[in-house]
Amino acid sequence: MPELISFNENWLFEGTQQVRLPHTAVEVPYHYFDEKCYQRAFTYEKTFTPPNGWQGTELSLLLEAAMADAKIYLNGDLIAEHKDGYTPIHARLTDGLTDGENHLRIVIDGSENPEIPPFGGRIDYLCFAGIYRDVWLVQNAPLAIETVKIETPDVLNATKTLTAQVYFSNPQKKVISGTLEATLKDSEGNPIAHTQAELTGERLLLQMDNLQNIELWDVDAPHLYTLDLALKSPHGDDHHTTRFGFRHAEFTTDGFFLNGRSLKIRGLNRHQSFPYSGYAIGRSGQERDADLLKYDLRLNLVRTSHYPQSTAFLNRCDEIGLLVFEEIPGWQHIGGEKWKAESVENVRRMITRDWNHPSIIIWGVRINESEDDHAFYTETNRVARALDPTRQTGGVRCIEDSELLEDVYTMNDFNLGSHEISGSNRAARPLRDQREVTGLDHDVPYLITEYNGHMFPTKAHDQELRQIEHVTRHLQVLNAAFGAKGTAGAIGWCAFDYNTHSDFGAGDRICYHGVADMYRELKFAGHVYASQGEPEGGLVLEPVTLYARGERNINGILPLTVLTNCDSVELRYGTATPIRGEPDRINYPHLPHPPVVFRLEDFPEDALGNWGTAWDDCEVVGIWNGEAAISRKYCAAPLLTSLSVVPDATEIADGQDVRVMVRALDQVGNKARHAADPVTIEVKGAARLHGPALVPLRAGSTGFWLRAEGTGPITISVSLGSLGTTETFLTAI
Ligand code: GAL
Repeated sequence: MPELISFNENWLFEGTQQVRLPHTAVEVPYHYFDEKCYQRAFTYEKTFTPPNGWQGTELSLLLEAAMADAKIYLNGDLIAEHKDGYTPIHARLTDGLTDGENHLRIVIDGSENPEIPPFGGRIDYLCFAGIYRDVWLVQNAPLAIETVKIETPDVLNATKTLTAQVYFSNPQKKVISGTLEATLKDSEGNPIAHTQAELTGERLLLQMDNLQNIELWDVDAPHLYTLDLALKSPHGDDHHTTRFGFRHAEFTTDGFFLNGRSLKIRGLNRHQSFPYSGYAIGRSGQERDADLLKYDLRLNLVRTSHYPQSTAFLNRCDEIGLLVFEEIPGWQHIGGEKWKAESVENVRRMITRDWNHPSIIIWGVRINESEDDHAFYTETNRVARALDPTRQTGGVRCIEDSELLEDVYTMNDFNLGSHEISGSNRAARPLRDQREVTGLDHDVPYLITEYNGHMFPTKAHDQELRQIEHVTRHLQVLNAAFGAKGTAGAIGWCAFDYNTHSDFGAGDRICYHGVADMYRELKFAGHVYASQGEPEGGLVLEPVTLYARGERNINGILPLTVLTNCDSVELRYGTATPIRGEPDRINYPHLPHPPVVFRLEDFPEDALGNWGTAWDDCEVVGIWNGEAAISRKYCAAPLLTSLSVVPDATEIADGQDVRVMVRALDQVGNKARHAADPVTIEVKGAARLHGPALVPLRAGSTGFWLRAEGTGPITISVSLGSLGTTETFLTAI
């Protein structure tokens, strides 16, 4: 492996401030801010001494991403430029280095330069400026392994084959010679195959045949392998490790197949932004998002709307078995010829960065929701197929009868909300038939890439009835997608609320389109997805109620939708006889786990009390395999009794970010969903708080991210008026 030296520390930002990367150029408020505040140029500088013995080696700088237009100067000379805010920037340092101190200056222009995709039109999200991913100093031999593309052509056969196209970097134009040894290792690091070859040029194709006992990468068992390459040449040695998986992914007219098995895609779109910090949450925070999508929301796919996301996020998707739809930057607008040329380069950069991730099953090679453009999209598809013939292409559109140049017709179908007039008027059909959309007289591979979103924005603190409608819409589309034979599945808009331009959102620079809020706290609709997970992976029981006599119009909590993967649900209200409810297979015949809905008519007249009578406690119990397996209690007279403070991890590596969730709870542990009190956050020890130290609860909760700085204990104290202070302890390692 080339030596990767962390280069995140000791940057001088704007000539005055010492910062550590990843870094957001402007820490924005939670909402109601002017997005122009970060749309300008910023400077990062660093003075460094090359590592001992650097002469004769190759040194370069690797920025995993910087938004958006980057210029890199070494000792005053411009050495690299990059007009893509989402892919890595490589800057060769070797020729401009001197012994002793060297000076790096990086200018990042966060303006929405109309020559750079996605800019030039209006876009419904913010592209926060800064060097917002990790930066590395890369030290290599003059002849080194630059990149590797691994293909596993016949994974459905009993014995497997692997090919590895190895590309060498040779900036000093040495005469190429040497030996490359390749070792295939299983996930425990045991060698299982080996080959070697002599170098003949700047590429080399290796092949391993007849591989036995290979375990496939799948969503439930994401087996990973590594290919270790050792290069020995007269110009130095190099090592390179590539992680990959053996798997076969295919969209067909009969749906999506993973390793020959039909799999209905159940996904959500993800923006990579965070409150206050914009894009600048580091690796551990990215990994946590993947875990959240897989384990909390129980999804099998994420779409990286609308750009390539961090390698840390994708690596984690590989590790946990979360499929990925990755796409190029863009939103509705297609620019001029230069812009299109840049967009084609976006395709190239995305694919060459990410082609070894088994989780990625499709490349999005159209500008999200743009018009047809025959020449442009012929070229993006050509480039994608030439670089990676193993994956199909898609291109997300919202128009009907669009020209299908891709392998999969990927469609944003907002039909359910299209009849929206007053907030209650839902269309009869959640999804259109594919031929109605494609205008074709035959079926094609077909995937729904968005639904809901702006058709029904819903805040975590919205009135219960709106949240129920939000839930119902997600249930209905999912049900329709599961029922649509031949449709590969559906990806909802979207996972998390996100900051956006003033042209969009709720007027406060937020699109409340998530099934979770910006802190990733699930709204009720989030549990629609969670409840589709199989019970063996964890039981889900989420009654869609704030449990109050008078929260709804008129009164009461009926009909009560309980999102669950249990066999049935029992409602125990006060001293009344418990009532058993079964999954609603009439309204949701296609869902793996329909909700249980308790309706007024299921109850004897006064079973749940009426306006003016006493309001009682209640328990909702999930029955699974004949037993009461999970339960939620509700009290008739909730009080704010405790403040729960839960970090996602108790150990954080130096420089990494961790989320901490704060929830105001009542006597039985339910979130006090109207609580909007201010909480103060104090962090002592080896960490720094992202964002302000005084924040309000929203819908009973808030969150924050911490960055470990150094090593040692971290004490977090969160206080809320009458509840006093809750202390939590973490360690920076
Ligand atoms: C789509 C778009 C998304 C988002 C969504 C809101 O049209 O692709 O980026 O704006 O609408 O529902």
